[in-house]
Amino acid sequence: MRNNIYSKVVGTGGYLPEKVLTNHDLERMVDTSHEWIYERTGIRERHVAAEDEKTSDLALHASRRALDAASLAPSDLDLIVLATTTPDMVFPSTACLLQAKLGAHNSPAFDVQAVCSGFIYGMATADQFIRSGQYRNALVVGAEIYSRILDWKDRTTCVLFGDGAGAVVLSRSDAPGIVSHHLHADGRYANMLAVPGTVSGGEVSGRPFVKMDGAGVFKFAVKVLDEIVEETLTANGLEKSDIDWLIPHQANIRIIQATAKKLRLSMEKVVVTVDRHANTSAASIPLALDEAVRDGRIRSSQHLLLEGVGGGFTWGSVLVRW
Ligand code: ACO
Repeated sequence: MRNNIYSKVVGTGGYLPEKVLTNHDLERMVDTSHEWIYERTGIRERHVAAEDEKTSDLALHASRRALDAASLAPSDLDLIVLATTTPDMVFPSTACLLQAKLGAHNSPAFDVQAVCSGFIYGMATADQFIRSGQYRNALVVGAEIYSRILDWKDRTTCVLFGDGAGAVVLSRSDAPGIVSHHLHADGRYANMLAVPGTVSGGEVSGRPFVKMDGAGVFKFAVKVLDEIVEETLTANGLEKSDIDWLIPHQANIRIIQATAKKLRLSMEKVVVTVDRHANTSAASIPLALDEAVRDGRIRSSQHLLLEGVGGGFTWGSVLVRW
């Protein structure tokens, strides 16, 4: 260890838009059924942002809740890192827009783009700034409005995603906190999961909707999540039985079950929100963490394994001692 400075989660927050879209609602929109969606993914319903809600608005609600839980004011923040794949606009970053809405005028702010692993990448980034001694308090947010990049006529993708935001406040601490993080990427698989559109010459060129090879993503996700679990345990000299809670990215219950099986962890020790939230990409891990912190499942001194995989491909984990 470089020094005795660590970062620790001191507050969590989450926000889900009011409107709920159930699988039965989707039956009226595309050729699908509740049974098909639920059996293959574990999803029952998802939240959808209102027309006038922006990603920075969802992020604002979650951030205020995290700051309240941490008993900190926006002016106490030294850094804002926001993970999103669905920014309000091309630029400024959604982190800057959030900074203005929060009134956190002292803090540098930037976005991280690592799709569904974005929150893991964001936590790792903020942790480095705190551990280096440069900053004391950092806000890390995952916020997404996937409903705007879904083709609502494509049943193979539109049933899988939802909107939401989650946030944590990390503060300097003399004990972990964040024990370790492990990040990976492999851009050779970029085409397997993408939104292949861009802004060019005043127009959108390419198709700005989620496009996915579902079976390929499934196989890749299970493989790299197996590997990241091993890597995290080995790096810290831990046994599988040392993990108290798995807080996975919430893409599909079958992917989550495969990781739990690898850890020989009963599903009671896995925080699951995919049934009610669907896949909220960068928001899914902080939303799940917030839920389990607030309902009292997560207790002091427990080991939490946060992990995720997403487009890029990107994947990673954060080991936390609560
Ligand atoms: N409703 C009804 N039928 C459907 C639907 C739907 N919504 N979507 C596809 N089908 C049909 C297909 O057309 C196909 O029909 P066919 O056999 O006549 O061609 C049939 O159902 C089976 O399709 P498959 O794609 O083989 O179904 P599979 O069992 O692989 O499940 C799924 C698809 C759920 C997408 C699965 O592959 C999966 O979960 N993959 C992981 C993808 C994922 O989680 N992506 C999220 C982003 S990445 C991340 O966050 C990790």
